[in-house]
Amino acid sequence: MKARLSIDKDYTIGAVDKRIYGSFIEHLGRAVYGGIYEPGHPKADSNGFRKDVLELVRELGVPVVRYPGGNFVSSFNWEDSVGPVEKRPRRLDLAWKSAEPNTFGMGEFQKWAKAANTETMMAINLGTRGIDAARNLVEYCNHPGGTYWSDLRKEHGSKDPFGIKLWCLGNEMDGPWQVGQKTPDEYGRIAYETAKALKLFDPKLELVACGSSNGHMPTFPQWEATVLDHCYESVDYLSLHHYFQNPENNLENFLASSVGMDRFIEEVVATCDFVKAKKRSRKQMNLSFDEWNVWFHSADADKKNEAWQVGPHLLEDVYTMEDALVVGCLINVLLRHADRVKVACLAQLVNVIAPIMTDNGGSAWRQTIYWPFLFASKHGRGTSMNLKIDSPAYENKDFGQVPYLDASAVLSEDGCSLSLFCVNRGKESLELDLKTAGIEGLALAEHEELKHSDPKATNTAAAPDNVAPKRLAVSKSGVQLAPLSYNFLRYAVEGN
Ligand code: AHR
Repeated sequence: MKARLSIDKDYTIGAVDKRIYGSFIEHLGRAVYGGIYEPGHPKADSNGFRKDVLELVRELGVPVVRYPGGNFVSSFNWEDSVGPVEKRPRRLDLAWKSAEPNTFGMGEFQKWAKAANTETMMAINLGTRGIDAARNLVEYCNHPGGTYWSDLRKEHGSKDPFGIKLWCLGNEMDGPWQVGQKTPDEYGRIAYETAKALKLFDPKLELVACGSSNGHMPTFPQWEATVLDHCYESVDYLSLHHYFQNPENNLENFLASSVGMDRFIEEVVATCDFVKAKKRSRKQMNLSFDEWNVWFHSADADKKNEAWQVGPHLLEDVYTMEDALVVGCLINVLLRHADRVKVACLAQLVNVIAPIMTDNGGSAWRQTIYWPFLFASKHGRGTSMNLKIDSPAYENKDFGQVPYLDASAVLSEDGCSLSLFCVNRGKESLELDLKTAGIEGLALAEHEELKHSDPKATNTAAAPDNVAPKRLAVSKSGVQLAPLSYNFLRYAVEGN
């Protein structure tokens, strides 16, 4: 089979905001306790941060991490997590039926983020709390000093303000599972008033309003329209969340699910633009896809979980080669919407539906989905290019014709290097024919291929490199995309 990819230097989608390679750490399962933080582990530093995990996070190049939830944030009292550790209360976390010791909190996360070379996207509790807790938190985090909350931060050992720019106004407030669920009018009002207070504190803060918890919610997209009716001019981004599954163990359907993500983004964009038109606004609402991933493998194990534990094994999906292909396609969707999607968070980062896994007291390793994320994060910064894809396709019950070739392309800022991220969804090899216009002298410089003879292959502590990319010899005679493979291809203008 053959597929053609055409790119013209003059036809671009938009600049890639590096924050689309963001991720997420929630107080959930072993993300914090036993994940990023494990005092007493042989590889823990003096703060209790696991250095082996930090190394992998830095390698992934995650520019922003959403924290501390998720569903957790909707009944979280941030004040519990600051000050002398021995005085912090142990609480019940209703969202995940766990115990929260608060031995890792706001200050610890800031230190960890610095060590991980990343920034914070802070979520505030609009479930059980509201404007007052939010205004105190932002003063604690960002005010230099001389006031009650900023001086308290200093007393707690953080002389300099944290300087957090990006704030989520609650989490999944439409969800019946959310502590403090709201109607769209209730949420729209509190989002507006909280945004007003935060922007009075600092108009440069960037604020994210909650969209629907996923595109299948019965209130989607009316939720978005009503919420934005209240707060369109006061917030900077609208959030999207979506997780992908393979319930029928049907690989063709599963690989087509990224088409669903594509449509979901288009529907949210259309809803934002409807509100813009209705309000005669000149402002464009951009999107924050701040929870996305494959999530289904752990569902049965989670049902057996014993309640009220610290750091229980929850949402520990072990990812397969198939999942890595889907994640590769999902990243391509984000890149192909670079004009509107400015922030995105792979949910999550460590142990909980994550690219990085750890054993308590043991090793840390890369899951299969680590690889497509790594290649895009490392090589997908610059300008996302418009693509014309001519590929053989297959018929899918939900999405019609789905091309075997899924791709995105990013031209580096200096225009000398073109990265292609390609997934072959088919069981036959695809010969790739790349046609470019306006970029002279491009030659293939790198080809990394991720594939496995068993689509269900996984990485484990015992076999951490079972699914790992291979660098292929660069051939002048055309590129073959192996069956069911993910490929990173870098073309460089000769001499680069
Ligand atoms: O990422 C796991 C959970 O999924 C988050 O806590 C919640 O926001 C979503 O439903």
